[in-house]
Amino acid sequence: MDEFTYRHGALHAEDMPIATLAEAVGTPFYCYSAATLRHHYNVLDNALAEAGLAERLICYSVKANSNLAVIATLAQLGAGADIVSQGELRRALEAGIPAEKIVFSGVGKTADEMRAALTVGILQFNVESLSEIDLLAETANAMGKTAQIALRVNPDIDAGTHEKISTGKAENKFGIAWEDAEAGFAHARALDGVAATGIDIHIGSQITELEPFRRAFEKIAGLLANLRADGHKIQRLDLGGGLGVPYGRDNDTPPDPLAYAQIIADVLGDSGCTIMLEPGRLIAANAGILVTSVIRTKQGAASREGGKNFMIVDAAMTELIRPTLYDAHHHIAPVAENEAATKQWDVVGPVCETGDYLGLDRALPVLESGALLAVFAAGAYGAVLGSAYNTRLPAPEVLVDGEKWAVVRARPDYQTLLDGEAIPDWL
Ligand code: LLP
Repeated sequence: MDEFTYRHGALHAEDMPIATLAEAVGTPFYCYSAATLRHHYNVLDNALAEAGLAERLICYSVKANSNLAVIATLAQLGAGADIVSQGELRRALEAGIPAEKIVFSGVGKTADEMRAALTVGILQFNVESLSEIDLLAETANAMGKTAQIALRVNPDIDAGTHEKISTGKAENKFGIAWEDAEAGFAHARALDGVAATGIDIHIGSQITELEPFRRAFEKIAGLLANLRADGHKIQRLDLGGGLGVPYGRDNDTPPDPLAYAQIIADVLGDSGCTIMLEPGRLIAANAGILVTSVIRTKQGAASREGGKNFMIVDAAMTELIRPTLYDAHHHIAPVAENEAATKQWDVVGPVCETGDYLGLDRALPVLESGALLAVFAAGAYGAVLGSAYNTRLPAPEVLVDGEKWAVVRARPDYQTLLDGEAIPDWL
């Protein structure tokens, strides 16, 4: 469910016409719906509650969309945060997430980052290697603190997703190898400065089947039993994120959050542990669209079989890299509903890369220069993966909440972009 709907033929974000926003901020821009963010968070939280998981914490995975206003919207609902860098720590705190609801994930935490997180007193570090545990123990000891840690284990499960966003297979860089997991906990127990009180997994992203989750949770249940038999005091199970979302508007059926919650409850409900989740895409993806204007259309070699029609728009791989990086499909539709006959178009950006496209072979009407298009499900892994390649200005972000709206990240000007660079005085 999302709050991007057509009213009298005009696409709206909640109560705001997209065309009005486009006029005010210019294109391309991202538009987020606060009501949709809240709805997605509440659907998941209610599903967990309904499945009887009373002790729970949803840590929004900030990497999916780290705009301060987006994080603040979720902070107000009681969300925690899953962060992977000192920069994301700064954002989460600034947006109002309490330190004691923050988990720090990632394979490459530095001593500096550990100190920053220890200073504010985060809930948990998800550690991914023995050498990381050693560095954290040393860093915490030097500060007179004890870090609560969860060992991220790699369950060697194929989540059935795109190879670039699969994380739970033995060949992926993530987590401590399954066969080393118990030794890892024993290693941590012998150190001052860390308390190994949690188990963590994250098997991948955009996972559309529930079975891989079930298999992973079952492995965790087995590990938990062994660790407890060995005297470890495990209090938290962090089950990661990864639940898939619909990208095609009407035609794909993502997994049901309640069925997912039920599997957690079936397998781990009587563990006595707090159940933690790290959803990113589930909350943010369908809470955002990318709005772009048609620059012009052109035809490829018409004489050739399969000659292409190109719709050249002012958004590009610099605003949404998912189509070219992960072969991802994002629904694209005119902002003003249009019943005219359609043709097949490659919707492409102005960037000088053959891979610069937002959608291939899309049925769309012939549109004039300046016509607006919406690229759906761009709220997660859109703006955060943006770049200024070809010296394009990063697109602004707008948050709509009912009839209210605000620019929550402005488009910089060219001078600001150039001011960050310098020509050395010897040149
Ligand atoms: N927790 C950890 C440790 C993660 O690495 C991730 C995502 C998440 C949680 C959130 O996963 P989600 O619920 O959003 O699936 N750029 C890619 C996705 C990369 C995901 C990286 N890790 C894309 O656009 O598909």
